[in-house]
Amino acid sequence: MRLPLPLLPALLAALLAAPLRASPLQERDQRFHGVVSAGGVVASQDRLASEVGVAMLRRGGNAVDAAVAASFALAVTLPQAGNLGGGGFLVLWLPGPSPAADRGCPTGAELTIAGGTAVAVNFRETAPLAATADLFLAADGTVDRRRATRSLLATGVPGTPAGLVLAQRCYGRLSLAAVLQPAIDLAAEGFAVGEPLADSLRRAAPLLQADPTASALFYGPPLEPGGPSRPYDAGEWLRQPDLAATLRRIAAEGEAGFYAGPTAERLVALMAERGGLITAADLQAYRAQLVRPLAGSFQGHTLLTMPPPSAGGVGLLQLLGILEPLPLAEQGAGSAAALHRLVEAMNLVYRDRNRWLGDPDQVAMPLERLLSRAHAAKLRGQIDPLRHRPAAELDGQPAAAGGGGGDNTTHLSVADRRGGLVATTTTLNFAYGNGIAVPGAGFLLNNEMDDFAAAPGRPNVFGLVQGQANAIAPGRRPLSSMTPTLVFRPDGRPWLATGSPGGSRIPTTVLQVLLNRMVHGHNLATAVASPRVHSQLWPDRLSHEQGFSPDTLALLAARGHALQPSTAMGSANSVELLWSPGPAGAPRLAGSLGVADTRRPEGAVAVE
Ligand code: GLY
Repeated sequence: MRLPLPLLPALLAALLAAPLRASPLQERDQRFHGVVSAGGVVASQDRLASEVGVAMLRRGGNAVDAAVAASFALAVTLPQAGNLGGGGFLVLWLPGPSPAADRGCPTGAELTIAGGTAVAVNFRETAPLAATADLFLAADGTVDRRRATRSLLATGVPGTPAGLVLAQRCYGRLSLAAVLQPAIDLAAEGFAVGEPLADSLRRAAPLLQADPTASALFYGPPLEPGGPSRPYDAGEWLRQPDLAATLRRIAAEGEAGFYAGPTAERLVALMAERGGLITAADLQAYRAQLVRPLAGSFQGHTLLTMPPPSAGGVGLLQLLGILEPLPLAEQGAGSAAALHRLVEAMNLVYRDRNRWLGDPDQVAMPLERLLSRAHAAKLRGQIDPLRHRPAAELDGQPAAAGGGGGDNTTHLSVADRRGGLVATTTTLNFAYGNGIAVPGAGFLLNNEMDDFAAAPGRPNVFGLVQGQANAIAPGRRPLSSMTPTLVFRPDGRPWLATGSPGGSRIPTTVLQVLLNRMVHGHNLATAVASPRVHSQLWPDRLSHEQGFSPDTLALLAARGHALQPSTAMGSANSVELLWSPGPAGAPRLAGSLGVADTRRPEGAVAVE
């Protein structure tokens, strides 16, 4: 058959468009949809923070400006996880040549990919120089959980201010002052407390009201003299003038505005008064690092994720390596057959994590072997398709069962109109960290030291049973589950940014979002909304969200899984770049799409 010549370009465009079914507007069969933008988009756990990010895009900022501004805003509007007193990770990709060298930033960690530059920022907290391996051990050898989580000993040297300032200085387009101004305004002028924050503060009252500074920051004056301070109702105005002053010092002086001068003096004075370890020398020694993203592939896609001290990035790539040749698509999303393989793979990967992973600056790890195809094949061979392999069988010895899970931490993703992508996850560890705020500085402190193996072989609060590689040592960064991740399409174009909170459930959440998108044909919103499972070797059980049918669960139980209904897992605020055929059929960036995970009521997408 001969086609009329004028139809040829249209046919060519249609053929080229076939693999470009990313546009949700063509996906009427899907039950969930993201928010589409002709320009950039920010998906975060808070509406105000997402709007702050987009305001930077409108001013000509890039994805890094938006992510940094939104992160500083989260430190004001989402005190349970957004922070100055904690730490986190960020992975970025920007089109074109890197601006870093011209700004005096080291470029050795950069990856050149898809005509642009990728790099990761490690601003994980460090153990104070006076920290010792037995810091949290009681006389009987057990872990003193209060000391490990609710005292000033639990606080690692904060990394967030250094990390955000570094990312901004080396890769942003706007000034540091410009990206900090919205957070300063939110802190100084205040904002209306929403119901999710009011509810969270009500539930956190026993923790936060025990600390006079935190109590004064987050609760209204007592209704009667001498009575307890009063939780805010939704709609009431929360002002944080001390936090505004701290943010102003960072805007004016960069890192030195936090790690030296009045902020540092206040933090060090609190430590000295109340038995903490962090000194002025710890603060001066703290450095955020530009590090090479961990790169992997899955069915032609390229993934860039966070290297150690994230255990999440290694775990995610290991899981994808194990699962890549399995017929998950044929088995179907949410089928017992596919879920069984997923959780069996998870257990094997958590066994590796617990044995091997730690801070790369202090611990040698067989990363090349762990991430090799041969190792993935070996682990795949250890999966019995019909029977759950108990943790004791895989791990050689029974371990004390701990909790598992975790609802804290926060993740945001950004796409800009030039195709730049940022995924960043930050945390205080628990919601509100250790619940202790720095007098006169307006921010809460993390309890990240509990992410170390306080007693190797015993579970931490997330139920993780970790080894010597993650033991406490001076200056060391504790292993983390945070897994900010970027994905590039098989033809090389940048595509997705994702990540999640959720403690030890973070890497498995990110895995399922990505499998849903890459394997199961879900659009991004459906990929994020679909129910999740989690398993982490110890405790030996399969946690599952609502949304799986009783028949599916019965099939899993019949394979030997101990099923445990779970609270919602994670909050994978994600973005996707939308591509459409250009005039000559070549793909053209047509905008972006954001998805705020509905598992957290306060999540929101803002569009440019
Ligand atoms: N604090 C939780 C994590 O980093 O994994």
